[in-house]
Amino acid sequence: MADLFDLVRTQRTQLPIVPTPSTVAGGTYIVTGANTGLGFECAKHFISLGASRVIIAVRSVQKGDAALAIIRKETGRYDVGEVWELDLASLDSVEAFAKRLDTLDRVDALIENASLALVQFSLTEGMETSLMVNVASTMLLAIRALPKLRASAKMFKIQPHLVVVTSGTAFSQKGVLEGTEGNIFDALSAKGTTNIAERYPLTKLLQIYAVRQLASLFPVSDTNVVINAVNPGLCTTELARNAGFIFRLQLGLMKLLLGRTAEEGSRTLLHAAVAGVASHGKYVSDCRIKEDYIPEWIRDESGCLTQRRVWGDLVKTLETRGHTVDIPGHPANKV
Ligand SMILES: NC(=O)c1ccc[n+]([C@@H]2O[C@H](COP(=O)([O-])OP(=O)(O)OC[C@H]3O[C@@H](n4cnc5c(N)ncnc54)[C@H](OP(=O)(O)O)[C@@H]3O)[C@@H](O)[C@H]2O)c1
Repeated sequence: MADLFDLVRTQRTQLPIVPTPSTVAGGTYIVTGANTGLGFECAKHFISLGASRVIIAVRSVQKGDAALAIIRKETGRYDVGEVWELDLASLDSVEAFAKRLDTLDRVDALIENASLALVQFSLTEGMETSLMVNVASTMLLAIRALPKLRASAKMFKIQPHLVVVTSGTAFSQKGVLEGTEGNIFDALSAKGTTNIAERYPLTKLLQIYAVRQLASLFPVSDTNVVINAVNPGLCTTELARNAGFIFRLQLGLMKLLLGRTAEEGSRTLLHAAVAGVASHGKYVSDCRIKEDYIPEWIRDESGCLTQRRVWGDLVKTLETRGHTVDIPGHPANKV
């Protein structure tokens, strides 16, 4: 676990840009939530490094077009970059996006960066909205994209990466899931028992469990696809745009003292997108694999039970809504 001294030190360390033009050339990269913040900077890096195709996946095509126009102007690459619609608040939108993704020749990396932090409780398709966006839709997209990533690996002799952007705030949620009864996604969608102020870090914990389980079901030896979870650290973005004034003030002060710029933070996403087989199923932070940052309560036997429970409940939740979790050609699609 990171202590305060370590946090200050790592936040202030200059991060490298790990992918190089030769790593990225010819590749196709998809970044969700790329109209702003870390996703925007990440997409810009891929374009400036010489990627053949960069897909800016956004819920507002208008915002995506505006972002792409800026990227093109700043990189001078006017022929690269595509804006594709993806609204993670709709499972059907995820399915439509995944179908489109399947038409690509290849995918070198899918960076699932989009998330939101809410302070008001709301339901989307019967699920608490941030749970839907950050976890259910994010993992449905991961599941749906896997066949294309595997096919890309085979056809182009590459090692595609599937990256979920998470957060170290997840580790503040010790014991919270163990206190829930029945299906976790149903329990966390009940307004009366939901502490919405603590929801964002909880969705990030669920992401970590789900990524670890997905990676264990699909080892690189079978798929040649690397799956990891990256923490970008504290960065100056609009993520807290929905929070109350006092919280934004406190966070703003912390960011002023310790925050990375969105560009600096995006370097952690770039690293995760090429981190290699050693990062499979692992927590990546500060452009390094930092599995030792995962607390013991996630890694121990009871943590593994919770991990399988999260995955089982996720699959059931998706299937209840008519989104089957069958991945062609792989028997281990269910737990
Ligand atoms: N900033 C930090 O300090 C920090 C720390 C740890 C982890 N992270 C993680 O880093 C990632 C990027 O966050 P950020 O800081 O760059 O935040 P941000 O500036 O708020 O960007 C979030 C992106 O997600 C998109 N998004 C939100 N809801 C969506 C939906 N329903 N469908 C599709 N896209 C949606 C947003 O689109 P709109 O512009 O249309 O809303 C935006 O493009 C997140 O996963 C976050 O949890 C950030």
